[in-house]
Amino acid sequence: MKVCVLGSGRGSNCQAILQASLNKQLGLAQIVGVFSDVKEAGILQVAQSYGIENQFLDPGNSRSKIDEKNEATWIEILLRHQPDLIVLAGFMRIVSTSFIHAFDGRIINIHPSILPSFKGLKAIEQAWDHKVKISGCTVHWVSEGIDSGAIIAQAPVRIMNGDSLTKLTQKIQAAEHMLLPWVISDLSTGAIPFMQ
Ligand code: GRF
Repeated sequence: MKVCVLGSGRGSNCQAILQASLNKQLGLAQIVGVFSDVKEAGILQVAQSYGIENQFLDPGNSRSKIDEKNEATWIEILLRHQPDLIVLAGFMRIVSTSFIHAFDGRIINIHPSILPSFKGLKAIEQAWDHKVKISGCTVHWVSEGIDSGAIIAQAPVRIMNGDSLTKLTQKIQAAEHMLLPWVISDLSTGAIPFMQ
Protein backbone atom coordinates (compact mmCIF):
# COMPACT_ATOMS: atom_id res chain seq x y z
CA MET A 1 0.00 0.00 0.00
CA LYS A 2 1.63 3.20 -1.19
CA VAL A 3 1.15 6.15 1.15
CA CYS A 4 1.71 9.88 0.70
CA VAL A 5 1.84 12.05 3.83
CA LEU A 6 0.84 15.73 3.83
CA GLY A 7 1.58 18.10 6.69
CA SER A 8 2.21 21.73 7.56
CA GLY A 9 4.03 21.56 10.87
CA ARG A 10 6.88 20.01 12.78
CA GLY A 11 6.08 16.51 11.60
CA SER A 12 6.02 14.52 14.82
CA ASN A 13 3.21 12.34 13.47
CA CYS A 14 5.11 11.79 10.26
CA GLN A 15 8.14 10.83 12.31
CA ALA A 16 6.06 8.30 14.25
CA ILE A 17 4.89 6.79 10.94
CA LEU A 18 8.39 6.65 9.46
CA GLN A 19 9.85 5.20 12.64
CA ALA A 20 7.11 2.55 12.71
CA SER A 21 7.98 1.71 9.13
CA LEU A 22 11.66 1.41 10.03
CA ASN A 23 10.67 -0.87 12.93
CA LYS A 24 8.61 -3.00 10.53
CA GLN A 25 5.44 -2.01 12.37
CA LEU A 26 3.61 -0.46 9.45
CA GLY A 27 2.17 -3.65 7.96
CA LEU A 28 2.24 -3.57 4.17
CA ALA A 29 2.37 0.22 4.01
CA GLN A 30 5.20 2.02 2.28
CA ILE A 31 5.65 5.79 2.56
CA VAL A 32 6.42 7.00 -0.95
CA GLY A 33 6.43 10.75 -0.43
CA VAL A 34 5.97 13.55 2.09
CA PHE A 35 4.57 16.90 0.98
CA SER A 36 4.04 20.25 2.64
CA ASP A 37 2.37 23.55 1.89
CA VAL A 38 4.99 25.25 4.11
CA LYS A 39 8.48 25.60 2.69
CA GLU A 40 10.36 25.44 5.99
CA ALA A 41 8.09 22.89 7.68
CA GLY A 42 9.78 20.44 10.02
CA ILE A 43 7.88 17.60 8.37
CA LEU A 44 10.04 17.95 5.24
CA GLN A 45 13.22 17.72 7.31
CA VAL A 46 11.83 14.70 9.14
CA ALA A 47 11.21 12.98 5.80
CA GLN A 48 14.66 13.96 4.60
CA SER A 49 16.28 12.47 7.69
CA TYR A 50 14.55 9.15 6.95
CA GLY A 51 15.60 9.31 3.31
CA ILE A 52 12.04 9.73 2.07
CA GLU A 53 11.22 11.85 -0.96
CA ASN A 54 9.85 15.19 0.19
CA GLN A 55 8.64 18.30 -1.52
CA PHE A 56 7.15 21.71 -0.85
CA LEU A 57 4.06 22.33 -2.97
CA ASP A 58 2.90 25.90 -3.41
CA PRO A 59 -0.66 26.31 -2.11
CA GLY A 60 -1.16 29.72 -3.72
CA ASN A 61 -2.55 32.76 -1.95
CA SER A 62 -5.46 31.34 0.00
CA ARG A 63 -4.88 31.03 3.74
CA SER A 64 -7.16 28.09 4.38
CA LYS A 65 -7.28 26.14 1.11
CA ILE A 66 -5.17 25.26 -1.90
CA ASP A 67 -5.83 27.73 -4.72
CA GLU A 68 -7.79 26.19 -7.58
CA LYS A 69 -5.03 26.74 -10.12
CA ASN A 70 -2.40 25.23 -7.80
CA GLU A 71 -4.57 22.29 -6.88
CA ALA A 72 -4.24 20.68 -10.30
CA THR A 73 -0.46 20.60 -9.81
CA TRP A 74 -0.81 19.11 -6.33
CA ILE A 75 -3.10 16.38 -7.66
CA GLU A 76 -0.83 15.65 -10.61
CA ILE A 77 2.29 15.34 -8.44
CA LEU A 78 0.56 13.20 -5.85
CA LEU A 79 -1.01 10.94 -8.51
CA ARG A 80 2.45 10.38 -9.98
CA HIS A 81 3.24 8.53 -6.73
CA GLN A 82 0.19 6.31 -7.27
CA PRO A 83 -0.91 6.51 -3.64
CA ASP A 84 -3.37 3.99 -2.25
CA LEU A 85 -3.74 6.22 0.78
CA ILE A 86 -3.15 9.87 1.59
CA VAL A 87 -2.49 10.74 5.23
CA LEU A 88 -3.10 14.27 6.45
CA ALA A 89 -0.78 14.55 9.46
CA GLY A 90 -1.13 18.09 10.71
CA PHE A 91 -2.12 19.44 7.30
CA MET A 92 -3.63 22.86 7.99
CA ARG A 93 -5.62 23.38 4.81
CA ILE A 94 -9.11 22.33 3.85
CA VAL A 95 -9.05 20.04 0.82
CA SER A 96 -11.62 20.52 -1.94
CA THR A 97 -14.21 18.10 -3.27
CA SER A 98 -12.22 17.57 -6.47
CA PHE A 99 -9.09 16.81 -4.43
CA ILE A 100 -11.02 14.22 -2.41
CA HIS A 101 -12.47 12.66 -5.58
CA ALA A 102 -9.08 12.57 -7.31
CA PHE A 103 -7.96 10.08 -4.68
CA ASP A 104 -11.20 8.16 -4.60
CA GLY A 105 -11.85 9.28 -1.04
CA ARG A 106 -8.80 7.41 0.24
CA ILE A 107 -7.68 10.23 2.51
CA ILE A 108 -7.41 10.06 6.29
CA ASN A 109 -6.79 12.79 8.85
CA ILE A 110 -5.63 12.83 12.46
CA HIS A 111 -7.46 15.26 14.72
CA PRO A 112 -6.51 16.02 18.33
CA SER A 113 -9.91 15.48 19.98
CA ILE A 114 -12.50 12.79 20.39
CA LEU A 115 -14.72 13.75 17.47
CA PRO A 116 -17.43 14.88 17.05
CA SER A 117 -16.39 17.07 19.99
CA PHE A 118 -14.08 20.01 19.30
CA LYS A 119 -13.86 20.14 15.52
CA GLY A 120 -11.71 22.70 13.76
CA LEU A 121 -8.71 24.67 14.94
CA LYS A 122 -7.25 24.65 18.46
CA ALA A 123 -9.07 21.46 19.39
CA ILE A 124 -6.86 20.78 22.41
CA GLU A 125 -7.46 24.30 23.74
CA GLN A 126 -11.20 23.88 23.14
CA ALA A 127 -11.22 20.70 25.23
CA TRP A 128 -9.11 22.36 27.92
CA ASP A 129 -11.43 25.39 28.08
CA HIS A 130 -14.46 23.11 28.48
CA LYS A 131 -12.74 21.39 31.40
CA VAL A 132 -13.57 17.96 30.00
CA LYS A 133 -12.08 15.03 31.87
CA ILE A 134 -11.45 12.83 28.84
CA SER A 135 -10.14 13.93 25.46
CA GLY A 136 -7.86 12.21 22.96
CA CYS A 137 -7.47 11.88 19.23
CA THR A 138 -9.36 10.60 16.22
CA VAL A 139 -8.37 9.21 12.84
CA HIS A 140 -11.16 9.70 10.31
CA TRP A 141 -11.83 9.60 6.60
CA VAL A 142 -11.70 13.00 4.97
CA SER A 143 -15.02 14.13 3.57
CA GLU A 144 -16.26 17.52 2.49
CA GLY A 145 -17.17 18.82 5.95
CA ILE A 146 -14.44 19.87 8.37
CA ASP A 147 -13.39 17.02 10.69
CA SER A 148 -16.67 15.27 9.98
CA GLY A 149 -15.86 12.18 7.87
CA ALA A 150 -16.49 8.66 9.14
CA ILE A 151 -14.48 7.82 12.24
CA ILE A 152 -11.92 5.02 11.88
CA ALA A 153 -10.30 4.88 15.32
CA GLN A 154 -9.93 6.91 18.49
CA ALA A 155 -7.59 6.93 21.47
CA PRO A 156 -8.70 8.43 24.78
CA VAL A 157 -6.58 10.54 27.12
CA ARG A 158 -7.58 11.31 30.70
CA ILE A 159 -7.18 14.81 32.02
CA MET A 160 -5.98 14.58 35.61
CA ASN A 161 -6.06 17.19 38.36
CA GLY A 162 -2.80 19.07 38.07
CA ASP A 163 -2.46 18.60 34.31
CA SER A 164 -1.66 21.76 32.38
CA LEU A 165 -2.59 22.60 28.80
CA THR A 166 1.00 21.77 27.86
CA LYS A 167 0.77 18.41 29.59
CA LEU A 168 -2.56 17.66 27.89
CA THR A 169 -1.05 18.57 24.52
CA GLN A 170 1.85 16.18 25.16
CA LYS A 171 -0.50 13.38 26.20
CA ILE A 172 -2.71 13.81 23.14
CA GLN A 173 0.25 13.93 20.80
CA ALA A 174 1.71 10.79 22.36
CA ALA A 175 -1.67 9.12 21.73
CA GLU A 176 -1.60 10.34 18.12
CA HIS A 177 1.85 8.88 17.60
CA MET A 178 0.55 5.45 18.57
CA LEU A 179 -2.83 5.61 16.86
CA LEU A 180 -1.89 6.87 13.41
CA PRO A 181 0.78 4.26 12.54
CA TRP A 182 -1.50 1.58 13.93
CA VAL A 183 -4.39 2.67 11.68
CA ILE A 184 -2.14 2.84 8.60
CA SER A 185 -0.82 -0.62 9.33
CA ASP A 186 -4.32 -2.05 9.81
CA LEU A 187 -5.57 -0.41 6.61
CA SER A 188 -2.65 -1.94 4.74
CA THR A 189 -3.37 -5.46 5.94
CA GLY A 190 -7.14 -5.18 5.58
CA ALA A 191 -7.74 -5.42 9.35
CA ILE A 192 -9.49 -2.06 8.94
CA PRO A 193 -11.56 -1.91 5.74
CA PHE A 194 -11.40 0.97 3.29
CA MET A 195 -14.55 3.02 3.02
CA GLN A 196 -17.15 1.55 0.64
C1 GRF B 1 -1.30 17.22 15.47
O1 GRF B 1 -1.64 17.41 16.82
C2 GRF B 1 -2.54 17.01 14.65
O2 GRF B 1 -3.56 16.38 15.32
C3 GRF B 1 -2.94 18.44 14.35
O3 GRF B 1 -1.73 19.09 14.12
C4 GRF B 1 -0.70 18.49 14.88
C5 GRF B 1 0.44 18.17 13.96
O4 GRF B 1 1.60 17.90 14.64
N1 GRF B 1 -3.88 18.50 13.27
P1 GRF B 1 2.88 17.33 13.89
O5 GRF B 1 3.21 18.26 12.75
O6 GRF B 1 2.56 15.95 13.43
O7 GRF B 1 3.95 17.35 14.94
